[in-house]
Amino acid sequence: MRTARLHPCSLSIILLATSLVSINGLLAQEAVPANAPYKDVGLPADRRVADLLPRMTIEEKATMLSGSGWMESAPIERLGIPAIKMADGPMGVRSWAGSSAITNSVNSGVAKVQTTSFPSGVDMAATWDTDLVQREGRAIAQEVKALGRDMILGPTVNINRVPLWGRNFEGYGEDPYLSGRMGVAYIKGVQGEGVIPSLKHFAANNEEFQRHRIDAHVDERTLHEIYLPAFEAAVRQAHVWTVMSAYNLLNGVHCAESAPLLTDILKKEFGFKGFVISDWGSTYSTAPTMNAGMDLEMPGGAPMQAWLATGQTQAAGNGAGWLTADKVLAELKAGNITEATLNDNVSRILRVIFESGLFDHPHPGGGEVDTPEQRAVALQGATEGIVLLKNTDSLLPIDAGRIHSIAVIGPNAAVARTGGGGSSLVRPKYAIAPLDGIKERAGSKIDVTYALGVGMQGEDPAQDTPETRAKLLKEASDTAAKADVAVVVVGRYSKLEAESFDVKTMDLPAGQDELIEAVEKANPHTVVVLNTGDPVTMTKWIDKTPALLDIWYGGQEGGHALASILFGDANPSGKLPVSLPKKFEDSPAYGHYPGENLKVDYAEGIYVGYRYYDTRNVEPLFPFGFGLSYATFEYSDLRVVHTRTFEGTAHWDGDHVQVKVRNTGTRAGAEVAQLYIHDGHSKIDRPVHELKGFQRVELKPGETKTVQFALDRAAFSYWSPEQKDWVAEPGTFEVQVGASSRDIRLRAPLELK
Ligand code: BGC
Repeated sequence: MRTARLHPCSLSIILLATSLVSINGLLAQEAVPANAPYKDVGLPADRRVADLLPRMTIEEKATMLSGSGWMESAPIERLGIPAIKMADGPMGVRSWAGSSAITNSVNSGVAKVQTTSFPSGVDMAATWDTDLVQREGRAIAQEVKALGRDMILGPTVNINRVPLWGRNFEGYGEDPYLSGRMGVAYIKGVQGEGVIPSLKHFAANNEEFQRHRIDAHVDERTLHEIYLPAFEAAVRQAHVWTVMSAYNLLNGVHCAESAPLLTDILKKEFGFKGFVISDWGSTYSTAPTMNAGMDLEMPGGAPMQAWLATGQTQAAGNGAGWLTADKVLAELKAGNITEATLNDNVSRILRVIFESGLFDHPHPGGGEVDTPEQRAVALQGATEGIVLLKNTDSLLPIDAGRIHSIAVIGPNAAVARTGGGGSSLVRPKYAIAPLDGIKERAGSKIDVTYALGVGMQGEDPAQDTPETRAKLLKEASDTAAKADVAVVVVGRYSKLEAESFDVKTMDLPAGQDELIEAVEKANPHTVVVLNTGDPVTMTKWIDKTPALLDIWYGGQEGGHALASILFGDANPSGKLPVSLPKKFEDSPAYGHYPGENLKVDYAEGIYVGYRYYDTRNVEPLFPFGFGLSYATFEYSDLRVVHTRTFEGTAHWDGDHVQVKVRNTGTRAGAEVAQLYIHDGHSKIDRPVHELKGFQRVELKPGETKTVQFALDRAAFSYWSPEQKDWVAEPGTFEVQVGASSRDIRLRAPLELK
């Protein structure tokens, strides 16, 4: 079964060789000739694996199944098999020594690696710019190599199911199609540099609450339509080299030992040829884990042993140390695993080592990190990701020639809050806070004043007394009242929004609503800036807010990006990759989160995000896909052009969908045209529409461009658990094109024969 996934020619070689080894182990004992075929860079990876595998002893093979350290796989020096040296991601390259908990701590004593801090995943998703995400992947991979590493632990493509998930900032939002496009772009960028990505976390890792013990119950259709498509796209379109299994249980089984997930879906259905790596400390058995299709256990070696022994690790529910060579060999001897299984695990790891070029071109390191080009990508991401949510009376952009003063206020104004907390938080060489960016851009003619307004919840207890609070609030109102424009930057930071715990409430941290209300009262020209990864409650003040920007976590260039949007040097073009509900109670997962008795039922099914809001007519505060610009855009001439009809499972080669988009404003800008498909004739319950295409298009004032969308079978299909396949029912669909899920400008029928 397992070997059947290899190339047929390699299969016979492996089978033959395996039996040779098992019978007399002769080949494995022989000295390796200098011209052994596996060393031949010109041969395909599968051929090289087929040559190398029989040269390995059973002990060597067993050694390869667990890490040799915190962030390294086991090398086999005798055969020249290198260790795969890993680094955390995905928003840049993170320190690799010590556990994430240790490296996160400021006083860790762990060598600090300083790299470019790119915007958070949700921020990059808000750009809807796949080309940029691919360039980000490339830039990150270059830094990985410069630091002498081989693998980056990202991207994260888990869906934003609950507004309170601590890791929402890492993922690409609520929509599987958008997440898939982003993930594919990132992976292409990384793999194009010969660096190994790790697509994570497979699967249904959508809350941090008891993340090692929570059992997500998700029906088959929902899994296929919502939680798996981004993974499937990465396997089918980007041929991703590794996938990381998730901490949680899925339908009663830990993901690392779920054969339905790792073997049936990932390897057989999707055709994944790379290796599965465990999330750090997520294994609980030897034979069931290997038999399920988990290939490489991380971490390993002495660092793993030391970490596993701590009370904290035990209490958290981590498991590790199950795929060590001694345990693997014992299970093999006991007949609980077969040598074919072991061969498959090892072959997959070897295949990636060859395919990525790591075997032939190790990364010695020593290159430059945080180059001007890499910084430029970070800046472009932060800028394009900013979403203008409100702009009453065109308060923005600020006309630098007409104002004399700006008050910059808030707990996120003077500190650069670059990312959420956990294994993804990068240490940059520098980071531009909103206040820095605004001061730099304002120059000497505009007076920039600052007030904290309120301390960040939990950061400094001295700021938390009633007297200090009242004093800070008064200072903020006074500062705002004296300025022409007030910019109030609120939100969370890496200790309130982080991996390993969920956010407790959708409300902003203590005192921030009051701060916004006070500043808005003091100055009618107030711009509220949200610096968070999760949706937040805004009902207390939103009606009175003239201008609102969402800057997410923008990485090290966030402050420059914000200033360029505020002053109109850049035109906002970000669009929400996630619906922003009015309140948590409106969210589809409400009532089905965090679960009871460590079991969470995804009872809302496929109705996640706009699929729920738009189908059930629950009005969000700001809809999925929404974002304003300083320009305006007009859509016209929607055409559905068929050249061929859709047949069976073949790709539909129709001449796609075309629409004209025109910039009717006075500034150059970018619009993200979104294509949704409405299925009005389905036999089964389907969301009112689903995103199936998007194009980001740059337009000068007055310019018109024709945007094209190619639609394949997936655009019309739902997953049928009965047929165990995607089904597209012939009939009339509606193609909708617009500027958000709730701003459909044009509709046209599409007949599927
Ligand atoms: C996280 C992963 C991360 C790994 C290694 C885990 O706790 O869930 O995303 O890559 O640690 O740091």
